[in-house]
Amino acid sequence: MEFSVKSGIAEKQRSACIVIGVFEPRRLSAVGEQLDKISEGYLSNLLRRGDLEGKSGQVLLLHHVPNILSERVLLVGCGKERELDERQYKQIITRTINTLNETGSMEAVCFLPELHVKGRDTYWKVRMAVESTHDSLYQFNQLKSKKGETRRPLRKLVFNVPTRRELGIGEKAIEHGLAIANGKKVCRDVANMPPNICNPAYLAEQASELAKQYDSINTKLIGEAEMEKLGMGSYLAVGRGSENESIMSLIEYKGSHDEQAPIVLVGKGLTFDTGGISLKPGAAMDEMKYDMGGAASVLGTMHALAELNLPINVVGVLAGCENMPDGRAYRPGDVLTTMSGQTVEVLNTDAEGRLVLCDALTYVERYNPEAVIDVATLTGACVIALGHHATGLMSTHNPLAHDLLNASEHSGDRAWRLPVWDDYQEQLESPFADMANIGGRPAGSITAACFLSRFTRKYNWAHLDIAGTAWQSGKNKGSTGRPVPLLTQYLIERAETQNNN
Ligand code: BES
Ligand code: MN
Ligand code: ZN
Repeated sequence: MEFSVKSGIAEKQRSACIVIGVFEPRRLSAVGEQLDKISEGYLSNLLRRGDLEGKSGQVLLLHHVPNILSERVLLVGCGKERELDERQYKQIITRTINTLNETGSMEAVCFLPELHVKGRDTYWKVRMAVESTHDSLYQFNQLKSKKGETRRPLRKLVFNVPTRRELGIGEKAIEHGLAIANGKKVCRDVANMPPNICNPAYLAEQASELAKQYDSINTKLIGEAEMEKLGMGSYLAVGRGSENESIMSLIEYKGSHDEQAPIVLVGKGLTFDTGGISLKPGAAMDEMKYDMGGAASVLGTMHALAELNLPINVVGVLAGCENMPDGRAYRPGDVLTTMSGQTVEVLNTDAEGRLVLCDALTYVERYNPEAVIDVATLTGACVIALGHHATGLMSTHNPLAHDLLNASEHSGDRAWRLPVWDDYQEQLESPFADMANIGGRPAGSITAACFLSRFTRKYNWAHLDIAGTAWQSGKNKGSTGRPVPLLTQYLIERAETQNNN
């Protein structure tokens, strides 16, 4: 897909299609009115006759509108003008893209970014249009023997902005939007890949590919032998029941001078989570291929970062591992020694994510990071608490938590904070080790974060629980690419503040 911005007059556009908003009830947007005049009332006549009410999501495709140079005019219902909000705007874009793609317009000029969306500027409207376009065109058909290809797919989209002054803003929005959209695609592609293909070695290969693609990136792989030497007893225990070797991939991005402390992103990369000896029930177990969604989002974010060439240093960690039941598998009752020296009594082998992450979190101390953010499909409890709309954010460092919440607000990739008060820590007490790996049913997401917090004392840390947001179930089952937008936004904003200092 090719995007550009333009600031032009609707009637002068010569394109396969021009896209115009219509508000409820039967009211043309400002640009629509200009076209209506040129076409001598053709559009308003249609509306008067009741062909389109303007309800959000309605579409009407017109051919050969009198005096209009473009072949087609697509009228898109936008609901009540005063009620046009972010969610509706994205839905309208999605509807537009699907219609264009299905009706043979290979290019179009879209006037929707000129509509007023509550609290959002041109930058946001163009960027979201780019992201939503990519989202709606995304397909995962690599493993289908027959790929159902669209005959005349949408190839080129021009966004019109109200004034020439905003052209630069629009271009920036396209650049950011594209980097995020491409990062999301990288994330979705690896996350959707089935677990017989996507194992820890596959994750490592993807990490190495990135290093080949970008000079700013170097990748290091840490296999089981090296983990043994490092004393990562907890991480190793989780992978012990699997035929697939555990591999931790380190993706080092250098966009700034050596002394600049890096931001470290650590992704949970359970390429399959059966629960281990504490076996999960069978229903929907296939979805546990998405238990590497954290790692996938870190990979996607590193991709976006390299594409944007941001002037910061960032390390991405993919904590690859597979949790299987087997004769060699770790068991409930085992006591593990973590890389930090702290011991853990395993009470449930299905609480494996924290056991992998804790050693990865200790490992990254060596980078003397400015901040560490881990991303994990960590707890079913998070889905119960926040559903599928918000990622759970937990942090022991308020400024970092605020930066992430701001980034989530700005990117539209929502997160909501839960507390990590010390009061919860006692749920992790164990009679046999320094701590247990589970804290009981109350506040399951928080006690998981409390567990991790014991391994992050040496730096500023935040944790994103994406159990409810990393993928969708049901008919449209698939990875969502979240939280690539949130993380990339955070890094864009970090780069901006660092540059201003
Ligand atoms: N990967 C799961 C969490 C999960 C479950 C994410 C369902 C998304 C949907 C994690 O490894 C896990 O199994 N967590 C347990 C922890 C429990 C044993 C304390 C859970 O949430 O049930
Ligand atoms: Mn589990
Ligand atoms: Zn898991």
